[in-house]
Amino acid sequence: MNNTSVPRVDIDPFSDAVLQDPYAYHEQLREAGPVFWLESLGVYGMARFDEVRASLSNHEVFVSSRGVGVADFAKEEPWRPPSLLLEADPPLHDRTRGIMSAILAPARLREREPLWRERAHELVDELTDSDTFDAVTDLAEVFPMRIFPDSVGLMDEGREHLLTYAAAVFNAFGPRNHIFEEGNAASVEASAWVAEACKRENLKPGGWGQDVFAAADRGECTPDEAERLVRSLLSAGVDTTVNGIGHLLLAFTEHPGEWDNLRADPRLIRRAVDESIRWDSTVQTFFRTASQDTEVAGHLVPKDSKVLLFLGSANRDPRKWDKPELFDLTRTTSGHVGFGAGIHQCLGQVIARLEAQMIVGALAERCVSIRRTAVPVRRLNNTLHALASLPVKVQLA
Ligand code: HEM
Repeated sequence: MNNTSVPRVDIDPFSDAVLQDPYAYHEQLREAGPVFWLESLGVYGMARFDEVRASLSNHEVFVSSRGVGVADFAKEEPWRPPSLLLEADPPLHDRTRGIMSAILAPARLREREPLWRERAHELVDELTDSDTFDAVTDLAEVFPMRIFPDSVGLMDEGREHLLTYAAAVFNAFGPRNHIFEEGNAASVEASAWVAEACKRENLKPGGWGQDVFAAADRGECTPDEAERLVRSLLSAGVDTTVNGIGHLLLAFTEHPGEWDNLRADPRLIRRAVDESIRWDSTVQTFFRTASQDTEVAGHLVPKDSKVLLFLGSANRDPRKWDKPELFDLTRTTSGHVGFGAGIHQCLGQVIARLEAQMIVGALAERCVSIRRTAVPVRRLNNTLHALASLPVKVQLA
């Protein structure tokens, strides 16, 4: 086992060109080998499905507590107090994940379903007053904001800071490039708002936020930890779903036959949501740190190395997926890593699926077709494949 043979790759995964349209670059990364050295960052990378999934699932070797961004928390001060979920290892992670999994248990989420469904129909009613709208700014950015902050129990004033904050959080996993700097400048006010919003006295009764403080009252965590756990919901729960819904609609505009299939069989919406997350993964990358020397496909990844895992590339690896570039509602999507894998697999995936199913399902009930009327515009982010605009025209049933 040695690391002199690890292929060296001269692609900057955080350059504008890659963030804009990563897929051609991903092919080069997968072809380079099962593990490679990224010259631009001085880190290892993996972009094939098998290695990405195996590494995500091996939390003892590929740890998260040293940061899931490029910074190694063993060497650098984190830009904010680390997440007690995303940036934690067992045993801390077992405890915090247990608290949050109970609060977001699927059975408890089902209680909220009727209200969320009503909100989805309301928004579709509003949008279909006209046959053209922007699927991102009028729909994908609007729907999660109408249900998520209320579900957490957030204060009413200032909720618009959520998207700015989340964009900055996801930018901060990357290097200090111009995208990070621009997002960071805009996020100072948003960070201050989020810190206030997570405090017990500012959370409304009946929401997930107060449920976390109830766990603190039972001695399951401290009040300080409770604040930071609420912060995780705000960091991870909005920009992700906005872009998940955006990509689902983008997928249908690029594969109009699948819209017809969905209308013929509305139960396909469940598969459509996961297939769109596979097809254009909102969360493109996360880092890990090797806690010990380890072998990946015959190559040494030395202890203390940072490793960049390309989730979006794994989800398009032809070694795993037949014609991966196609959004295909006959495909079995199980095993995709768009929500991660292993102990850190997305805590909010049931919420994310429900939101997307409801809003796009409601739109499909109402519209015979959805076409794009202009080229989609991307919003560059160091972690998320994000959309700024997707103008569409619908034909009502
Ligand atoms: C389409 C929407 C979403 C996508 C694509 C997504 C994706 C992901 C991914 C890939 C991870 C794994 C991170 C890692 O392994 O390091 C993750 C973790 C996480 N997600 Fe999501 N997510 C989405 C929505 C949500 C929502 C709605 C919430 C909150 C309610 C949420 C909260 C979290 C949290 C707290 C974690 C960390 C879990 C842990 O470390 O145990 N996510 N998500």
